[in-house]
Amino acid sequence: MTIAVREARPDDLIRLATAVVAQPLLVRYGATAAGLDRDLTAALGRGEGLLVAEEQGEVVGFAWYQLRAGLGIGAYLKLIATVPGAESRGLGAALLDEVERRVALEQRHLLLLVSDFNADAQRFYERRGYARVGALPRAVLPDVDELVYSKRLR
Ligand SMILES: CC(C)(COP(=O)(O)OP(=O)(O)OC[C@H]1O[C@@H](n2cnc3c(N)ncnc32)[C@H](O)[C@@H]1OP(=O)(O)O)[C@@H](O)C(=O)NCCC(=O)NCCS
Repeated sequence: MTIAVREARPDDLIRLATAVVAQPLLVRYGATAAGLDRDLTAALGRGEGLLVAEEQGEVVGFAWYQLRAGLGIGAYLKLIATVPGAESRGLGAALLDEVERRVALEQRHLLLLVSDFNADAQRFYERRGYARVGALPRAVLPDVDELVYSKRLR
């Protein structure tokens, strides 16, 4: 299937949030469709990076990044996710490639956090050149460490 990546529009967000919030990772972090819709709407309003991936006209994933939130040395990938059932079709790779292309125009590094239990996502990032550079113990959930990953883009 052909994947298209484009900038998000306000009218994408409630549908996207409603579909994506069923991802087990987001369920574990207590996300709700209304809360995610509110966060993405606010991010768009602040001019933060928000890309969506489409397959056959359906929005099936997104990547949210903040251009200057990477510890003073780069950008920060706040969240990337597909809708449940759309994993492993290359959507994440297409989204991350486009985030990196845009970030590299202004920043040298892209940083992100990944849950210690999310081995699949760790493999996804490591395969794409991200290195684990640290950990923030119990930073968000009391029983989960957030691993810090970073990639030098240029
Ligand atoms: C992580 C994620 C964005 C990757 O996008 P994708 O379209 O599935 O990835 P691609 O098809 O480009 O690459 C496949 C790789 O993604 C990873 N992946 C696949 N399913 C996954 C899942 N349910 N959760 C986390 N990572 C997954 C694996 O490393 C996989 O490689 P493998 O084939 O060797 O298992 C997507 O799987 C997802 O939304 N996962 C749930 C939410 C999440 O973990 N987000 C990252 C937060 S840090």
